[in-house]
Amino acid sequence: MASNSDARTFGSDSYDNAFRDSVENRESFWLTAAAEIEWSVPPTVALDDSHAPIYRWFPDGILNTCVNALDRHVTAGHGDRLALIWDSAMVGEVRRYTYAELLDEVSRFAGVLGAAGVAVGDRVVIYLPMIPEAAIAMLACARIGAVHSVVFGGFAAPELAARIDDAEPVAIVTASGGLEPGRVVEYLPMVHNALELAAKPPTAVIVKDRDEVPGSAADHDGWLDWDDAIADAAPVAPVMVAATDPLYILYTSGTTGKPKGVVRDNGGHAVALAWSMPNIYDIHPGDVWWTASDVGWVVGHSYIVYGPLLTGATTIMYEGKPVGTPDAGAFWRVISEHRTKALFTAPTAIRAIRKADPDAALLAQYDVSSLEALFAAGERLDPDTFEWVGQILGIPVVDHWWQTETGWAIAANLRGLAPMPIKAGSPTVPVPGYRVGVVDAEGAVVAPGTEGNIVIELPLPPGTLAGLWQDDERYRSSYLTAFPGYYLTGDSGYVDADGYVFVLGRSDDVINVAGHRLSTGRIEAVVAAHPAVAECAVIGIHDDLKGQRPSGYVVLKSGAEIEPDTLRAELVAMVRNEIGAVASFRDVTAVPALPKTRSGKILRKTMRQIADHEDYTVPSTIEDPDVLAALARQLGG
Ligand code: COA
Ligand code: AMP
Repeated sequence: MASNSDARTFGSDSYDNAFRDSVENRESFWLTAAAEIEWSVPPTVALDDSHAPIYRWFPDGILNTCVNALDRHVTAGHGDRLALIWDSAMVGEVRRYTYAELLDEVSRFAGVLGAAGVAVGDRVVIYLPMIPEAAIAMLACARIGAVHSVVFGGFAAPELAARIDDAEPVAIVTASGGLEPGRVVEYLPMVHNALELAAKPPTAVIVKDRDEVPGSAADHDGWLDWDDAIADAAPVAPVMVAATDPLYILYTSGTTGKPKGVVRDNGGHAVALAWSMPNIYDIHPGDVWWTASDVGWVVGHSYIVYGPLLTGATTIMYEGKPVGTPDAGAFWRVISEHRTKALFTAPTAIRAIRKADPDAALLAQYDVSSLEALFAAGERLDPDTFEWVGQILGIPVVDHWWQTETGWAIAANLRGLAPMPIKAGSPTVPVPGYRVGVVDAEGAVVAPGTEGNIVIELPLPPGTLAGLWQDDERYRSSYLTAFPGYYLTGDSGYVDADGYVFVLGRSDDVINVAGHRLSTGRIEAVVAAHPAVAECAVIGIHDDLKGQRPSGYVVLKSGAEIEPDTLRAELVAMVRNEIGAVASFRDVTAVPALPKTRSGKILRKTMRQIADHEDYTVPSTIEDPDVLAALARQLGG
């Protein structure tokens, strides 16, 4: 078996050596990386391949992730160093926690969880906005060996309920609500609904009361108030767990409506993230690092919380938007105020800033000289945005590619090893540990420059998914069976003659809206439930700001009489109530029929090409070419 990146020389000695070492001396490479982590029993073996294609990392290692993120820095004498800076543009407040203070909060909240009945291996759903309590709750779970599952605040009650049903948590940790520009998002009615919908609701509900949002634990029988509970709690000691024990479950969109529960282990995760901070991001103990994402996404898990704290850096947690809170200078303010060394954000945030302040006039008001690099991921960094932001900041702009499943970068320009020349539109080269390949539909490795399915040769490196929560079968069928020996990324793209990876987009029904991953299948299921809708297709079409947005095409039941505006308003409301505002569903077009193949498959790709005014060929398998032609006329394609 071969991958496009095997035995390649890229021209940067330190990168080439690290990559080759990770492939040829895998055991020693990862055991050396593991030495950066504090273990109660250090691993003697890196990879357990006895159940291939399902692998386990550091099978005999024992550790605690919270100890590595907090205790060991305090023990080493760095208790006074800043661990977390919470900067809220929404409430105009900055709160700072040293490592010692954060450890104290986390240890006491671990006591609250224990008192609420949470034990080793139990799940805890965390449904919190971007407040420090989100990181505290995550680390407290890690401290007692519980498994957290953070649910993004933009998801509505049914999505929260679906995750509760899959993870079967003992407790849910939430807040009275979140703050969006011009609107308060009340969480408690949603939590209440989700608990009603869930088949096995958790027994404990803990609520952080925010002054800005109505509602509190007191309004609900038996719910606990965070502040009261933590005031009485005694700090608890960490519980050591096996490296292979789960640290968290994070649900992500797949091609079906049911989200996939990506499982991350403790040991491989700690080793990989600790390796990534200096080597990919050039971030070291004491450096100030800011990931402008949300703890509800994988980027937030890995690089707001775990990565920077495992390294002993200072992490910024920002509650606000790139624009409108109060203006497009918000990011520059945060960078200058906290002397930030590097920023990691999604391209859509840069596009939003550019749209609001095309000449970057607001940048001139701030001293951002501390900033050494800007990292982008979550969606393709289009060359136009790359050029603009590189030019206004005058620092390297580093695109890197990864996904919820991998938990850290698959391809990047490794700033801590000798950086490589940047090519606009490419996240550069495979990260050590990842043997990236591009294969055709039959699984044959294609020539450089030829587009195909991007795959990663097994085993994946440490820190990547251990599987899907209690569903090995779905793990295998979703990722491992399409091309035996490889992990299927679901992305298509190519590797050029210099070994640079180019990621062009998803090859499945997953779409990426403002850096948020959504399933068109899930949106279709909601739209199809409208009483006037006979059938529908939802596709991701190009959006200048958000990269993509969902666009719905509906065929009405014969005899259904509904005004287009009413239909649209009702469908938009249904998607908002069932999935959440984050779905950004606004486009609805009624069509006489949907183009299909003779076997009844909707031609979504062709529909997308027509909607985006791209060239397309009429598939030979089409059932009725007239339907496609009519759609093209209707959409002006
Ligand atoms: N809780 C509740 N609602 C939320 C939410 C949250 N945590 N996050 C977003 N929403 C809501 C928004 O308020 C908006 O509601 P609206 O339809 O009533 O306006 C809706 O979900 C869509 O949000 P979004 O797609 O984010 O669009 P936006 O217009 O509010 O903001 C950007 C656009 C580009 C400024 C914003 O998407 C952004 O900052 N993106 C950065 C992307 C990012 O961090 N991605 C994480 C992966 S790296
Ligand atoms: P998520 O799981 O939400 O992180 O989304 C992962 C998906 O986002 C990937 O499979 C890609 O389709 C896309 N993605 C993430 N980062 C990049 C990038 N740097 N370039 C292109 N696509 C990206």
